[in-house]
Amino acid sequence: MRSVVVGFGGALPRKCIKNDELPASLNTSDEWISQRTGIKQRYVIGEGESTSTLAAKAAKDALDFAKISPNDVELIVVGTTTGDYTFPATACVVQKKLNITNGCPAFDVSAACSGFIYALDIADSFIRTKRARSALVIGADSFSKILDWNDRSSCVLFGDGAGAVVLKAEEDTDRGIQYCKIYADGSYTDCLVTSGGVATTQGAGVVTMKGRETFKFAVEKFCDSFRELLKNNNLAIDDIDLIVPHQANVRIINKLIDVLKIDPKKVVITIDKHSNTSAATIPLALNEIKDTIGANKNIVLLSMGAGFTWGAALVKM
Ligand SMILES: CC(C)(COP(=O)(O)OP(=O)(O)OC[C@H]1O[C@@H](n2cnc3c(N)ncnc32)[C@H](O)[C@@H]1OP(=O)(O)O)[C@@H](O)C(=O)NCCC(=O)NCCS
Repeated sequence: MRSVVVGFGGALPRKCIKNDELPASLNTSDEWISQRTGIKQRYVIGEGESTSTLAAKAAKDALDFAKISPNDVELIVVGTTTGDYTFPATACVVQKKLNITNGCPAFDVSAACSGFIYALDIADSFIRTKRARSALVIGADSFSKILDWNDRSSCVLFGDGAGAVVLKAEEDTDRGIQYCKIYADGSYTDCLVTSGGVATTQGAGVVTMKGRETFKFAVEKFCDSFRELLKNNNLAIDDIDLIVPHQANVRIINKLIDVLKIDPKKVVITIDKHSNTSAATIPLALNEIKDTIGANKNIVLLSMGAGFTWGAALVKM
C-alpha cells in the first residue's frame, strides 16, 4: 500500500510587504536582506485572516485539484505552531471550515518548520497501515504574529502562508511516498525558541534565534539526511529529478547544492517570493510547481526547524 500525492494547494495572505517597505526603525535594507537571505518580500495576515483560513483555503485547492470531495477525506493532519487557538487543533477548525462531517481524525503536529514533513510521515503511516484511504496533509503558519518586530535579525526572515497535499491510498503501484524519515535533537531547544508559552508566560512569546548555529545545523542536517535517503533507497544524486528544501535562507540551500554537487536547476527556490513560512514552505513550493512536475519524477523534500527537528522524504509522482 502506497500513499500517492494526488492534490496540491496553497494560500497566501492578501498583504505583501517588500523588503523596502519594512519600517525604517528596523535599520535594515533590501540589499542586506536579499544578499544575506534571498528574501525579497513576505506575506502577512490581516483582518479576517488566520492560520486556519489559510490552511482551509490551501486544503480546498488541493481537494479540488485531486477531484476528491471533502467528506471523502479520512484523516487531516496540520503541521503548525501558530494555530488560531491553544485548542482546539487547527486541523479541527479546518475540518469545520470544509464541512467535513464524517468524523475522521483531525490533529496538529508541532515540529515548527519541519511540521509538514512530520505530518506527511504520520499520514503516510496511517495509509500504509490501512487506517485511512485518503489524507489531507497541511503545513500552515502565521509567524508574523510571534515575531519581535524590533529584532531585525529575525523579523525580516519570516512570513505567513499555508500549503496542502492530498494523499490517496493505492495498491500495486510504484508511485507515491517511497521513504520518509523524521528526526529531532532536543539538546538544541535554546537555539530557536519562543520567549514564552502557555505553561510559562500564558502567552505565545516571540521568536528568538541563534542565527549562526541554526544556519550551520540546517546545512549539516540537510546534507546528512539527504545522503541517508540516497543510501537507503540505493539511489545516486543523478536519480533525483527535483529537490524541494525548506526555505529558510537561500545561502543554506546553496551550501547544500555545493556540498552534494547538485544541479542547481533541480532545486526549487521560492524564498524570494514567500520568505520563510515555517511549516508551509515545502507544500507551498510544491503547489507552485504542480503543473510542471510530470509523472514518475523522483522528488526529495528536506526540512529543518526548531527543536531541532528535521526530516527527508522521497516521493515518486
Ligand atoms: C539570521 C541570519 C540571516 C543572519 O545572517 P548572518 O550572515 O549570520 O549575519 P550575522 O548574524 O553574523 O550578523 C551580521 C551583521 O548583520 C547585522 N544584521 C542582522 N540582521 C540584519 C538585518 N535584517 N539588516 C541589517 N543588518 C542585519 C547584525 O547585527 C550583524 O551586525 P554586526 O556585524 O555589526 O554585529 C543567518 O544566520 C541565518 O539565516 N540563520 C539561519 C536562520 C534560519 O534558518 N532560521 C529558521 C530555521 S527553520
